[in-house]
Amino acid sequence: MGQIELIATSTFGLEAVVKRELLNLGYTDLVVENGKVTFKGTERDIPIANLWLRSADRVLLKMGEFKATTFEELFEKTNALPWDEWITEDGEFIVEGKSVDSKLFSISDSQAIVKKAVVEKLKTKYKTEWFKETGAKFTIEVSILKDIATLTIDTSGAGLHKRGYRVESVEAPLKETLAAALIQLSYWNKDRLLLDPFCGSGTIPIEAAMIGKNIAPGLNRNFASEGWPRVEKEYWNDVRREAWDLMLKDYKLNIIGSDIDKRAIRAAKENAESIGLEEDIKFITKDFRDIEFKDEYGVIICNPPYGERIGEKGEVYRLYKDMGKAFKNLDTYSIYVLTSNEDFESLYGKRADRKRKLYNGRIKVDYYQYYGPRPPKK
Ligand SMILES: C[S@@+](CC[C@H](N)C(=O)[O-])C[C@H]1O[C@@H](n2cnc3c(N)ncnc32)[C@H](O)[C@@H]1O
Repeated sequence: MGQIELIATSTFGLEAVVKRELLNLGYTDLVVENGKVTFKGTERDIPIANLWLRSADRVLLKMGEFKATTFEELFEKTNALPWDEWITEDGEFIVEGKSVDSKLFSISDSQAIVKKAVVEKLKTKYKTEWFKETGAKFTIEVSILKDIATLTIDTSGAGLHKRGYRVESVEAPLKETLAAALIQLSYWNKDRLLLDPFCGSGTIPIEAAMIGKNIAPGLNRNFASEGWPRVEKEYWNDVRREAWDLMLKDYKLNIIGSDIDKRAIRAAKENAESIGLEEDIKFITKDFRDIEFKDEYGVIICNPPYGERIGEKGEVYRLYKDMGKAFKNLDTYSIYVLTSNEDFESLYGKRADRKRKLYNGRIKVDYYQYYGPRPPKK
């Protein structure tokens, strides 16, 4: 096994959450930059990071980083990297690219140069001129930022938000990675009530239940690097077996998702059922105005409608005002609201204790955080 460098990529604003997740997994030597956290490990850490990271988008294997201002430089330095230690003779490999503020601004040319440099490397190793590309998948990325090229191979395949539980969806579902981050940015823990009164397809309650029961988010899916010889089958089996053992199977949670739309509740139930969490989350069809709050020290985390479409603004304004009224007397609750609506605080009638800028897909949003008191120690 060798020392390798891995990059957990993240959506803008979630780097600190990904960093905290990596620290909790035991990684210490972390470099946090815009949209990514770099950490060190061995081949065994590829399954660990892919199975356990909740808020990262992907895990990339960092092959090298260097300055490149000409195509010759890009070719030579790419060719010098140890591609042949990873990519198999029958490996299928494609090259993706991006370039920001750099002399090498043509992405398609940079991709072609990198592909050629990798092919030349593999020709020398496998003593062949022709590659079938019918085997495991290796997605290479050349990312050039201010003339510094970073070359990676994607170990994840489908983005890590694809947990494998979403069988049904409704309009504007939250990305699973973002929902997991919202929960981790809150004061919720598995002994407190979690309520999402606008739960839609159930992403926030389901992610909370997975966190509460310590279910590895990647346990129900496969990853591109499972076909790579250097990441041995045994590593994947060990990490999966350990994840099963670490699951808090009988832990009793208090998680409620409600929504006015009964189709959404049907979808949420199906999603929860597909991952065996139907007993752990109560889903109810209800207008949030009719919710009776029985518990104390609950945590509300929600993603209400934003009113982005023409004609919806008035309705959403009314909804935010009514949220202010409905949640007004919840003195012991902590309340978290994600919305793109910049008037939220004035409509809701209260200034947030903290506001965090995030992105929901391409939409710029704020995460309004209202902190309640800590629950008394049991
Ligand atoms: C942005 S979506 C939430 C998406 C959800 N987070 C998910 O991941 O699928 C907003 C939800 O609010 C619901 N909604 C709108 N008005 C409501 C009301 N008065 N009471 C409860 N839910 C409402 C909609 O039916 C919709 O499902």
